[in-house]
Amino acid sequence: MNRGSTSGPARICVTNAKGGTGKTTVAINVAGALSDRGRDVLFVDLDPQGNATEGLGLVDAYDAQPPSLFDALTGDPGVLAEIIIEHEEMDVVPSNIDMLQAEHELTIADLIARIDARGLDIDPSVLSQFAINVTPEMVSGSHALDTLDRALDTVTGYDYVIIDSPPFYGNLTDTGVFAAQHVLVPALAEATSERAIELLMDQMVALEQQADIQVEMLGVVANRIETTSEAETMLKWFKAAFPDSPVWQVRKRVALQRAYTEGKSIFGTEEQCDMADVFSDIAARFDEKFGYNKVTA
Ligand SMILES: Nc1ncnc2c1ncn2[C@@H]1O[C@H](COP(=O)(O)OP(=O)(O)OP(=O)(O)O)[C@@H](O)[C@H]1O
Ligand SMILES: [Mg+2]
Repeated sequence: MNRGSTSGPARICVTNAKGGTGKTTVAINVAGALSDRGRDVLFVDLDPQGNATEGLGLVDAYDAQPPSLFDALTGDPGVLAEIIIEHEEMDVVPSNIDMLQAEHELTIADLIARIDARGLDIDPSVLSQFAINVTPEMVSGSHALDTLDRALDTVTGYDYVIIDSPPFYGNLTDTGVFAAQHVLVPALAEATSERAIELLMDQMVALEQQADIQVEMLGVVANRIETTSEAETMLKWFKAAFPDSPVWQVRKRVALQRAYTEGKSIFGTEEQCDMADVFSDIAARFDEKFGYNKVTA
């Protein structure tokens, strides 16, 4: 098996700070396709809005009492194992209403790390007074972006971790990219995606420098494609912008929305959808890349 520089499951963060590009849809259906190939998948809903949690039929978990993913990211990473829920296709770390506080909490953790890294004469425990969980003891190193990474290190038994990220730049998204170091980027085949993708690539470079990591682009998923000249133009743009990465094409299909409503990927529903082939292709490509070569399902 080849997992690059790390052992353990291949981790993939599905990300694009532009809203509504299909992150959640793509994340759920790539996870479903990997599961369909016999892989053990852990799905992490890092978005405080909890769309993936809802789209996997786990809305009760969103409203559940602590501990939740919030506590694993800001307090005890070991809590992650306790909050995993079994779904028929994959295991899931659900989002939770408390995740609405996570960006604020991770900002405090980041400031504590910066005080330490710069050797400033400020007592970091002053800042933790403004936090719910974060203390100077849980922050180590020159940044505080490693909390999901550390939490994922405490769970074993998975081939893949698929992370659905929120639609904004910030600590939460950075934490997801840091943990995965591989990104899959859903983008609508429309002109607004150009700027969104350029900003995303700039942000990845900034994060690589800040956190001293290499982020690998696994591909673009041009999503919700309709038969328009704008879509044709954008597909050409994606291919030119990412000559070394696959550009998968997912067309607009209500079957994807119906599967979401059923709490499943399209691989878990009765309904046939031609876009299943695209998600299967993505999964096969990932298996090849990460060294899982046999279909065992
Ligand atoms: N290929 C598709 N065909 C039809 N509908 C789609 C497709 N992809 C996504 N959608 C629908 O578009 C909407 C946005 O998709 P989704 O929630 O996956 O995007 P997102 O990037 O996760 O959004 P957010 O930025 O809010 O997290 C949803 O209603 C979803 O069902
Ligand atoms: Mg989403």
